[in-house]
Amino acid sequence: MKFFLDTANIDEIKRINDLGLCDGVTTNPSLVAKEGRDFEEVIKDIASTVDGPVSAEVTGLTYEEMVAEARELAKWADNIVVKIPMTEAGLKAVSTLSKEGIKTNVTLIFSVAQGLLAAKAGATYISPFIGRIDDMGENGIELIADLRQVLDIYDLDAEIIAASIRHIGHFEQAALAGAHIGTIPGTLFPKLWSHVLTDKGIDGFMKDWEKFTSNQKK
Ligand code: G3P
Repeated sequence: MKFFLDTANIDEIKRINDLGLCDGVTTNPSLVAKEGRDFEEVIKDIASTVDGPVSAEVTGLTYEEMVAEARELAKWADNIVVKIPMTEAGLKAVSTLSKEGIKTNVTLIFSVAQGLLAAKAGATYISPFIGRIDDMGENGIELIADLRQVLDIYDLDAEIIAASIRHIGHFEQAALAGAHIGTIPGTLFPKLWSHVLTDKGIDGFMKDWEKFTSNQKK
């Protein structure tokens, strides 16, 4: 499983990238707006910090706007992936862009039908939003498993990015359900390596070691 960071915050990205654990980054207009920086500057900054794919989302909603924005975004860096919302115009844009060799990430996927259509249109990535599905009283992880099954049955190239991951359980279950990638909020990522029993264990070992070494000195 590849780990992407779901953030536009450069400090969060650098922290995980320095661990060698950042395979890519996803952003969306809300995450970029949160940083209060110029869109192009933020995306170029991220794209030059990480080696892997960096998703930048179009904001136009017509086919013409999406394609024009995508062509521009793709020029910003070699590792840019254009994020396109799951609409009729979006599918048409993905078909055009995939023929031009521009990589796309179809976002706001909430059903197997949407994921299958996006994959058939030529999406490089499809992004089911598991947290938002759970918010509706449905099961986001089941959608990941079903999408993985359908991609495998029809031998489609698109990779699943489990998005809208809200907690450690989502991350673990998405991995078990066969998501190719999990995109993890920058604030959640550090919680993945923490465990109360790890901290307690280290504390116990250190105390015993101190006792042992001070007894040796006597
Ligand atoms: O990757 C999608 C993500 O940014 C949306 O997350 O928590 O707003 O549903 P959330």
